[in-house]
Amino acid sequence: MGNSHDSRDTIHLQNVEGASNSSGTQENAAIKKTVLVGVTGGIAAYKSCVLVRDLQKQGFRVKVAMTEHATNFVDPLTFRSLTHEQVAVGLFDDPEDPIHHISLADEADLFCVAPCTANFLAKLAYGIADDLLSTTALAMTCPIVIAPAMNIHMYENPATQHNMQVVSSRGIHIVEAGSGYLACGYTGKGRMAEPEEITSAIVSILNTPQDYQGKRVLITAGPTHEPIDPVRFISNRSSGKMGFALARCAHARGAEVTLVTGPSQLSDPAGVHVIRVETAEQMFDACDQNFEACDFAIFAAAVSDMRPARIHDHKMKKNNPEDDLSEIHLVENPDILKTLALKCTHQKTIGFAAETNNVLENARRKLDSKHADMIVANQVSETKTFGANNDEAWLITHNGETHIPETSKDNLANKILDAALKL
Ligand code: C5P
Repeated sequence: MGNSHDSRDTIHLQNVEGASNSSGTQENAAIKKTVLVGVTGGIAAYKSCVLVRDLQKQGFRVKVAMTEHATNFVDPLTFRSLTHEQVAVGLFDDPEDPIHHISLADEADLFCVAPCTANFLAKLAYGIADDLLSTTALAMTCPIVIAPAMNIHMYENPATQHNMQVVSSRGIHIVEAGSGYLACGYTGKGRMAEPEEITSAIVSILNTPQDYQGKRVLITAGPTHEPIDPVRFISNRSSGKMGFALARCAHARGAEVTLVTGPSQLSDPAGVHVIRVETAEQMFDACDQNFEACDFAIFAAAVSDMRPARIHDHKMKKNNPEDDLSEIHLVENPDILKTLALKCTHQKTIGFAAETNNVLENARRKLDSKHADMIVANQVSETKTFGANNDEAWLITHNGETHIPETSKDNLANKILDAALKL
């Protein structure tokens, strides 16, 4: 059942306690999803025993792999007794399986690192593979969930915070640590989330519908940079977060996703084909090449409407009489959405309208003028839309309008994807 997270398997929700003897387990194993729990060296490792139990109660087959350090906190025998499975620790432990890290990764439908130490988080962020668990992590193609646990100062350290952002932007799910009394004597953030919370995150990830399986989705994201000279350009405040959220969510729902993004700080979402461009013309070319093959095209990029007519080959200077800095002659960029929507054969096209005034009116007009099947309208303000993690939107189609109250961009992305399937 390796990598069956891509399939339409339903999760077996029966309570398997007490069914761990005999043929019942064997039969269920054919349809059960496998969760590999990675235990790293923190005192919260004792809570991983409860996590294993909770996951089993949800009907999952659970396997455990541990770091050497973790074995100082909980003996592998404890997990072996709980799971009735071998517990993997060293890279070369299993003489029967010389490439154990690959077989472990292949049979997992989800990998959950709990507790995840600051050290293991750093290894995940940088792709370091120097023991069985980190090597297995690098070989994973299934969803990954981590539950960090550490001292409050380690948690708040900018290095740890940065690593969390890195792994999160790659699609790794973080079940955030809670606040409370820590084993080190401090009180604050750093306690591993409760097993119940981790289990519920895992259930919801593995329950994600695969309703985009077999569908190809083209998405644009981010701003464009329109060069003036080698050091200056015209751009806007778009961060790319909405387009990247759409790409992540469409991929999680089984789609084959191509993301064409302008300059953005965000890392490539796992499993998504990412094409990085700078200018509107480059974005147009990349979309044009990928449009025919797609089923849905979602244009979330904030494309510059205009570009400088001339790109100076030297840095323009205010005291150079040939460089008139007071005037830049602009020409119009291709309208990617409008041009491609006119070429539609079977594709559904979705545009965005980020407006400061008359949001709905402008968005309704855009639905017709751009020949789109749906427009996602947002109100732009100082704190909303550009760079924010949450947004409020109106989904406008030829059949009606739906208001989505403020929610995370991931939730909004899923609502847009739900609506797109109904077009
Ligand atoms: O015309 P306006 O820029 O407001 O339209 C916004 C919508 O059109 C967005 O979906 C945006 O990605 C798309 N667009 C485009 N090419 C342009 C300008 C906008 O695809 N040159």
